[in-house]
Amino acid sequence: MSRGDEPAPESTPVDTAAPPAGGAPAAALAAPPCVVRSRGELAEALAASPRPLGLVPTMGWLHAGHRSLIARARAECATVAVSIFVNPRQFGDPADLAKYPRSESRDLAICADEGADLVWAPDVADVYPPGFDTSVRVGALARPLEGAARPGHFEGVTTVVAVLFGLVRPDRAYFGAKDAQQLRVITRMATDLALTSVVPCPTVRELDGLALSSRNVHLSPAERAAAPVLHRALLAGRARHAAGERDAEAIRAAVREVLATEPLARVEYVSLADDATLAELQRVEGPALLSLAVRFGATRLIDNLSLA
Ligand code: PAF
Repeated sequence: MSRGDEPAPESTPVDTAAPPAGGAPAAALAAPPCVVRSRGELAEALAASPRPLGLVPTMGWLHAGHRSLIARARAECATVAVSIFVNPRQFGDPADLAKYPRSESRDLAICADEGADLVWAPDVADVYPPGFDTSVRVGALARPLEGAARPGHFEGVTTVVAVLFGLVRPDRAYFGAKDAQQLRVITRMATDLALTSVVPCPTVRELDGLALSSRNVHLSPAERAAAPVLHRALLAGRARHAAGERDAEAIRAAVREVLATEPLARVEYVSLADDATLAELQRVEGPALLSLAVRFGATRLIDNLSLA
């Protein structure tokens, strides 16, 4: 996992993200998690679950990034719960929602393999029952970058995560650093509303540096071959910073220069922002977040590295 701030080669665990092969020893030994759907079933399962309880919220199509979140929760909590819910409220584009990859049997095999105790896989009406009319919106942190590119996205994310937290009442909730702004927005909400403790977990990468994402499945072979340019570009920016460059635009330009070598990459933004506030920087004098969004055909990928 590229821990967000380490080069991929020495930090990448290789994980195919595939479910365990049938009959493999690990699969044969893994106890299946308890799967619940309705709010009532969830409440019953939670009442019988020892604390502390760790929640890994997901939209399914689990990969090695999710595995690492579940494994971290397993190491720290008496009960590990995974939610699998493709949240319609965070998709601006209905086509994007419709093509979001889903396979519950595959996801359940991965949850079993990682030792999750409980999987909550609700229907839309279990999460948003008739009459549901509340939205949770975080302020300034949710506005730039993904917030600007995807209007309404973070409101959808924070609303569903607030519902998940309200129903599961986790002691800890685990989120990946690949979605850097989401992590900050959810941490803000959880702190402001005193909901739970958010545990940030490092990005997991393929050996060639591509950050794991459920969306990678949509890349054509040529796009998949091109996509590691994101990590190379971020590393180039980080190298400029490590060499002493403090002018933020010069670092962004170094990132764009590498991205420009890949004809399939259509750059949406390259950002170098204050790590805590996400305000764009002119000079880098403290912890900063270098992030980008790039399209390959119809697939939009995001990635980031921290500059310490
Ligand atoms: O990161 C995700 O998969 C989703 O945004 C989340 C946090 C599960 C909310 O739907």
